[in-house]
Amino acid sequence: MTQELSGIGPLGKDSGAPLPEWDAPEIDRTKAHPARIYDYLLGGKDNFDVDRDAAELALAKMPELRAMARANRAFLGRAVRHLAEAGITQFLDIGTGIPGPGNTGEIARAVHPQARVVYVDYDPIVSAHSRALLSAADPALSAVVQADVREPKTILESGAVHSVLDFERPIAVLLVALLHFVSDEEDAHGLAAQFVDALAPGSALVVSHASEGHEVGKFGAAREGWNNATSRLVLRDRAEIEAFFTGTELLDPGVTIIPAWRPDRELTAEDLALDYGHAGVGIKP
Ligand SMILES: C[S@@+](CC[C@H](N)C(=O)[O-])C[C@H]1O[C@@H](n2cnc3c(N)ncnc32)[C@H](O)[C@@H]1O
Repeated sequence: MTQELSGIGPLGKDSGAPLPEWDAPEIDRTKAHPARIYDYLLGGKDNFDVDRDAAELALAKMPELRAMARANRAFLGRAVRHLAEAGITQFLDIGTGIPGPGNTGEIARAVHPQARVVYVDYDPIVSAHSRALLSAADPALSAVVQADVREPKTILESGAVHSVLDFERPIAVLLVALLHFVSDEEDAHGLAAQFVDALAPGSALVVSHASEGHEVGKFGAAREGWNNATSRLVLRDRAEIEAFFTGTELLDPGVTIIPAWRPDRELTAEDLALDYGHAGVGIKP
C-alpha cells in the first residue's frame, strides 16, 4: 500500500518506508502520538518518523524515559499476574497502548486460559493493532472498543464491553500510564471514581502515573516533545495519585514508585532512581 506523505508537521520528514499493514486513513501521521512514542521507547516497530523524532527529543532531555517505559510495562505485568492469581478473571484495560508481548490478555490467560479481556483505547492505530491481535481470538473472551476514558459512561454502557464482561462479578480496571493524559479540568479523579462505582465488590483498580521525580523540571523539559503529540502530559505527586484509589483498599505496599510495586527481583540503585512515576493497586471492598 502506498500513500502520499502529505501534511507532515514541523518535525515531519518521513522515511518513505513502506507503510505498515495497520495504517489507515483516519490515522493522523502529522503529529506524534503517545501510543506510538511509547511503542518506540519499548523497542517496537509501530511508529512513524514524527513519533521517533518526538521520542528522541524527549530522550535527549531525559534518558531515563526508556527505562521508565519498560518499568511501567513490567508493573502492568506484575499487577495483572497478581490479580489473576488472586482469582480475578475479567480485565478492562483502558489506554491499552499498542499490544505487544506481555499484553494484558497474554498475562491473564497464562493463569486463567478463559480470562476475559476488553481493550479500550481512543486511538485508531491501537484499535487496529488490537483487532489484528485478536482476529483469531474467541469473541466471547475478548473485545476491542475504541473509546475515550474521559467519557466513562460510553465505556461502561458499551454493548461490546458487556458482551464480554459481567459487571456482577469482580473486574480489574486498568488505567495504566493513562491518567496523566487527563487534566484536572477534565476531572481525572472523578472519572476514575465512576469506574470504581460501577464495579462489583472484590474488583480492582490498577493505576500507574507520571510524577515530577527527584530531578525537578527534568520531566517538564522532556515532555515538551510529548506536548507536540496529540495528548498533553500532567504530572501528579504521590498523594494525588493515591487519591485515584478512593473507594478501594490499597494492596501492600500502597502507592510506590513504579519499580517498587511488588518487585519480582532485587531493586538496583537505577531502579530506585526511577521516581518519575507512581503505581498502585486497590481492591473495592
Ligand atoms: C503510554 S500508553 C500506555 C499503554 C499501556 N496502558 C501500558 O501502560 O503499557 C497510553 C495509551 O493511552 C491512550 N490514551 C491517551 N489518552 C486517552 C484517552 N483519553 N482515552 C483513551 N485512551 C487514551 C493512548 O492512545 C495510548 O495508547
